[in-house]
Amino acid sequence: MEWSSGIGLWLPVLSLTLLYIFVYKKAKSGSNLPPGPKPLPLLGNLLQLRTADIQGCLLKLRDAYGPVYTLHLGPLPIVVLSGYRAVKEALVDQGEQFSGRGELPIMSKTSKGYGIFFSNGESWKQVRRFSLSTLRDFGMGKRSIEDRILEEIQFLLEELRNTKELLFDPSFCLRRSVSNVICSVVFGCRYDYGDEKFQMLLDLIQENLRRVDNFWVQMYNFFPVILDCFPGPHQELFKNYKKQMQFVEEIMKSHEESLDLTSPRDFIDAFLIKIHQEKGNQTSSFDAENLLVSSLDIFFAGTETTSTTLRYGLLLLLKYPEIEGRIHEEIEHVIGRNRVPCMEDRSKMPYTEAVIHEIQRFIDLLPLGVPHAVTEDTIFRGYTIPKGTTVLPILHSVHYDPEQFEAPEMFDPAHFLGVNGAFKKNDAFMPFSAGKRMCIGEGLARMELFLFLTSILQNFTLKPSGAREEIDITPEYSGLSKLPRQYQLCLIPH
Ligand code: HEM
Ligand SMILES: *[C@@H]1O[C@H](CO)[C@@H](O)[C@H](O)[C@H]1NC(C)=O
Ligand SMILES: *[C@@H]1O[C@H](CO)[C@@H](O)[C@H](O)[C@H]1NC(C)=O
Repeated sequence: MEWSSGIGLWLPVLSLTLLYIFVYKKAKSGSNLPPGPKPLPLLGNLLQLRTADIQGCLLKLRDAYGPVYTLHLGPLPIVVLSGYRAVKEALVDQGEQFSGRGELPIMSKTSKGYGIFFSNGESWKQVRRFSLSTLRDFGMGKRSIEDRILEEIQFLLEELRNTKELLFDPSFCLRRSVSNVICSVVFGCRYDYGDEKFQMLLDLIQENLRRVDNFWVQMYNFFPVILDCFPGPHQELFKNYKKQMQFVEEIMKSHEESLDLTSPRDFIDAFLIKIHQEKGNQTSSFDAENLLVSSLDIFFAGTETTSTTLRYGLLLLLKYPEIEGRIHEEIEHVIGRNRVPCMEDRSKMPYTEAVIHEIQRFIDLLPLGVPHAVTEDTIFRGYTIPKGTTVLPILHSVHYDPEQFEAPEMFDPAHFLGVNGAFKKNDAFMPFSAGKRMCIGEGLARMELFLFLTSILQNFTLKPSGAREEIDITPEYSGLSKLPRQYQLCLIPH
């Protein structure tokens, strides 16, 4: 016991010192990184980044060092990009070079280089390309994604009608319903809202999202070597991830048993068929590990993002009833009351389109974006960024860029409306990021946002719990994303 705890202390200190020497030596020799605040040994700029308001700190640093600067998190340099122009030049104009995923040790331990979100190189390319094309509307056989969403919406509307005009918190039904869309796409089935296994999976995902925010888990990302030796919340996270994997593994097994090579029912079937087709192909990355992790990636990336956007969107409409009123009018005019909404309606509903875009811009769900990395030594604006360096595109600075939006601090659908009320595109709309790493769920998410919102508003009018002036639309920060404050509302049926 004595002996092992002795090692437990010294080993990490030694590894850390070696890591420090190694990384700094490497960083100092010959690299010409953008300027930035001076790092302390070992800690880098960690002390300057009060965890409570990382975003505010990063913006202040931009004011001091410009749109492209270098920050040290622990011993690791991170290049931070701010404002539409810098982000676009990197992610779009030099897309290939900036298409790497920043290494997050916590994720290399869960995903182990498989899947889409945290993978890199050839495996990422193959699996991403395949997943994108499978998620197109008819990529999974006969049943379109639109169909699957519309089916789920009927269950949701029923559930909403059962609230009987009483106050309720919409988080739970929206989350379950959006998860069910992903279930339908990935597993080929939806779950009853009361299903215990389904609830368990949702709870596991929720828990892990909360854990990722946990300070120690964030520290793990900077000092994996030391923390690996200690118990802590990060260990729970790995256990939890294992349980999620078991859940999906079971579903994969039953799919294999009932697979029809000519008729995929869902994402898992399509992937199994691909594995089958490329069996024996040395360069193929399609295998059971990649299927498992990709499925979990889609779950992880596609559930909370979409349901939070819907929940925040409803709060904004509660705050601005005149905007809700204009959507009701457009629904009345284009869809009417005798049929359910469909995707064909979208192009005829520019006002609703503009509101949905403005919701996504304004709520700025992932303000710090997701870390990228350069895939080779990269020259950017005269600096040299060594291969593998983490790059952080601050999406908040794009969505609130005063050069791109007239009044970024205001919630105003006019940001996306042109002459005669036509929808107006804006290249600085980047809630899904941009370039080669851009969200693969964009099409699916935008379909869901449109169909969920129009279906809810076709059937109900929103009523707040108190005075509209008192509705607080400012976000609550979690480490990764911005969330709406908890609220309740009533739905008044039409
Ligand atoms: C409103 C909803 C959503 C938002 C705001 C959102 C946002 C994002 C963002 C910002 C990224 C990081 C892109 C980058 O690295 O620069 C991303 C990646 C990703 N998203 Fe989404 N997403 C949403 C919905 C979805 C859905 C429904 C899916 C399900 C298919 C999904 C799957 C993914 C995957 C797999 C990646 C990783 C892509 C890669 O690394 O190549 N997302 N998303
Ligand atoms: C092997 O797999 C790769 C990657 O999916 C594919 O591009 C290539 O065409 C396959 N080769 C053969 C001979 O099927
Ligand atoms: C929602 O509205 C549509 C169109 O008016 C109607 O057909 C449908 O029955 C309503 N659904 C619910 C659950 O109220």
